[in-house]
Amino acid sequence: MDNMLSAQFEAAGAVFVGSPERRVGEPGDPAVYFRTEFEARPGLLSATLHITALGIVEPYLNGAPVGDEVLAPGWTSYRHRLLVRSHNLTTVVQVGKNAFGAIVGDGWALGRLGFEEITRPRIYADRPSLFALIELRYPDRTEYVASGDRFRCGQGPVRGNSLYDGVTIDARLEPAGWTEVGFDDRAWHKAEPVDWDMATLTEATAEPIRRVEELPPKKIWKSPAGTTVVDFGQNLPGWVRLRLDGPSGTSVTVRHAEVLVDGVPDYTTLRTAKATDRYVLAGNGPEEFEPRFTFHGFRYAEIDGLTCDLLEEDVRAVVVHSDMIRTGWFETSNDLLNRLHENVVWSMRGNFVGIPTDCPQRDERLGWTGDINAFAPTATYLYDVRKVLTSWLDDLALEQKDFGFVPYVVPDVQPGHDTPTALWSDVAVRLPWQLYWEYGDEEVLRRCYDSMATFTRSVVPLLDPTGLWNSGFQFGDWLDPSAPAHQPGLAKADRHLVATAFFHQTAREMACAAAVLDRMEDADYFTKVADRVREGFRAEYVSPSGRLTGECATAYALAIRFGLLDAAQLPRAGARLVDIARRDGYRISTGFAGTPHVAHALTETGYTDDAYRLLLQTMAPSFLDPVVRGATTIWERWDAILPDGTVNPSGMTSLNHYALGSVANWMHTVIVGLRATSPGFATMRIAPQPGGGLTHVRAAHDTAHGRVSVEWKCADGTMTVRVAIPDGTTAVVALPEHPDRAEHAVSAGRHKWTYTLAPAVEPLTLDSSVERLAADDTILMSVSAVLREYLPPHVDVAQLLGQSATLPLSVLLNELPGVTDRTRRELAAAIQSDN
Ligand code: BGC
Repeated sequence: MDNMLSAQFEAAGAVFVGSPERRVGEPGDPAVYFRTEFEARPGLLSATLHITALGIVEPYLNGAPVGDEVLAPGWTSYRHRLLVRSHNLTTVVQVGKNAFGAIVGDGWALGRLGFEEITRPRIYADRPSLFALIELRYPDRTEYVASGDRFRCGQGPVRGNSLYDGVTIDARLEPAGWTEVGFDDRAWHKAEPVDWDMATLTEATAEPIRRVEELPPKKIWKSPAGTTVVDFGQNLPGWVRLRLDGPSGTSVTVRHAEVLVDGVPDYTTLRTAKATDRYVLAGNGPEEFEPRFTFHGFRYAEIDGLTCDLLEEDVRAVVVHSDMIRTGWFETSNDLLNRLHENVVWSMRGNFVGIPTDCPQRDERLGWTGDINAFAPTATYLYDVRKVLTSWLDDLALEQKDFGFVPYVVPDVQPGHDTPTALWSDVAVRLPWQLYWEYGDEEVLRRCYDSMATFTRSVVPLLDPTGLWNSGFQFGDWLDPSAPAHQPGLAKADRHLVATAFFHQTAREMACAAAVLDRMEDADYFTKVADRVREGFRAEYVSPSGRLTGECATAYALAIRFGLLDAAQLPRAGARLVDIARRDGYRISTGFAGTPHVAHALTETGYTDDAYRLLLQTMAPSFLDPVVRGATTIWERWDAILPDGTVNPSGMTSLNHYALGSVANWMHTVIVGLRATSPGFATMRIAPQPGGGLTHVRAAHDTAHGRVSVEWKCADGTMTVRVAIPDGTTAVVALPEHPDRAEHAVSAGRHKWTYTLAPAVEPLTLDSSVERLAADDTILMSVSAVLREYLPPHVDVAQLLGQSATLPLSVLLNELPGVTDRTRRELAAAIQSDN
């Protein structure tokens, strides 16, 4: 506990209080309403409220809500850290009598957590409890109003409430004026003290969770079942606000869904989460309803029980997440790519509701370590995540110390998972390192050092004598698209190859972190560990020429990216990786472990054009397939929605999972070309690599030093590059496609270059003439093969192509029998992949 706070709390005698009506909170029990009144005397200098709860708390003073935080105090490892937020009440406390109230719902402390059938309630506490301390400062002394036996508690409109299942609000039960002076609370109970370790109280430092945006409906319609369906056009975290009118006792339900199947909301992606809010109307004119003590991940709302048609102005989606500052933007000439990037941003927003989670909609929403590990380099570009992630890393370190291992989810609600696994557990090292590199602040390394070193040392005894991490459970290349639907860990990449490659990288980063903090003995030790693991990896998996055993994209991507190959082996490895990408027709073949690295590995071995193809492929499985099919967030698995529009029945089909959105890092560091060359962007390299038919890119990133903006545009054979970097930084700008490969060292300020490009060769497409296409043997073969499949057997394809040399292929297709959209798509893909 913070010393200052602890002294005040001690002096004031504030304790946690609960209601005698809820000694053991059961799921579905009503929220608890607490209140007290107090006097403020003339001469008040300041008034401050310090508040937290076991559960979720909503404070009020003199009839108005205090602050704009929602879902407070958020989720931490409560047994170690329960966050206290302070609110300045100086302008709202009045001289004379004041009334303070707070509603406490179940939240993470009492509500069920976990997934599928194994969710458990009351993981941290038995009943909702409040901790509140109002500090009234006068020139001569300080007085306290502290939660304790002067507080009374009762009930109100908030009935059953659950993060996963939703809330019931019965407006008829509003105790009118309960947060105002003079309310008669004699029928309420005296609050009872609740035992809780005060040493867990910690000042909240991360941005609060807030309502950050509102979206109007895109469309409202009646379903065949008679319910009203609202489409907000965007999958988002938060809830729906409704203005309703109807007789007292009218019951309206709002159920949330991510997707429509056959035009009606489908709830499969929620698993057992009911995600249903219920309102019972008081019946005294138009009433506004907004849920509390819950949130949902949804695009559609299905509303039942309305007594009249819902008007557009009576419904809003309220977007709710940690109110972090946006720091990264990216826009290109390609709308699909822009939408993909936008989906990444929305998935990040959806999964930063207090802690970094896997998903916001189903019965899970846990702090899965692997997901944020894969996504962190993208997250640090898009938002200032310093505070939210440092807070989460504090929890990770405390639980690691407590349990003796890094849990798979932090805070941990799944006891029993105690063996480390690559990409998940090594977040303990790789996330602090990423934060250090982004923000240039050694403090994060200092703060996390013990956790980082303890984790790295814990894996060393698990290595075999040759340095391989080849035993124990591993998630591996989770959700490789070719893994069986119900065995997502059964990837093409050998899971121990993945583990060993990751551990090499982890040990390297660990050694670097030790060196930054001047712990040279540790740096030396971890370097030796990394060297040993590298040797083991190479001996087991790499041929002298640079081929990998069990060839697949993830294996090559990791070996290339994590420095496991010698310079002489890289060309061979790159060539094999690109062969695999081409063989797969640029469809994606990687899961959580390989996806963040595959495009980078192609670029690093000289195949940026192929990386673009991988990024821009629209045929499934691919990054753009969901975009083409209308996705507004990143899906958990490549085929979360099957080609027939139904939800993949595997049970793991969140439509809002950021892990695979980690590809955005390639967009930022290759398409924009922005990379820090020293921690915190004091120095940087800006080397955009145009491709994929993009004609312009505009991006900005607010670094710890200030805004960096990069823009390139190519029109009529002329390239224009604009770069602006902030004070205190320098950059090397490598001009894209410059005839002399010019590079410029620049200092703070705005810079612009314009130059003529070498004439470009027009890429081959469906609209190219048959002649041009036929000039390339491979393309001719593939095009002929596709045509033979679709045209009636009597058509002589070779002759047909020979006679139509000057026609664009697309025009020829219009005249042929048997040609469908599918034929066109396959031809386009064949031309693209052989091109
Ligand atoms: C989660 C993931 C997580 C994975 C690990 C899933 O249920 O949603 O994103 O990383 O499990 O097994």
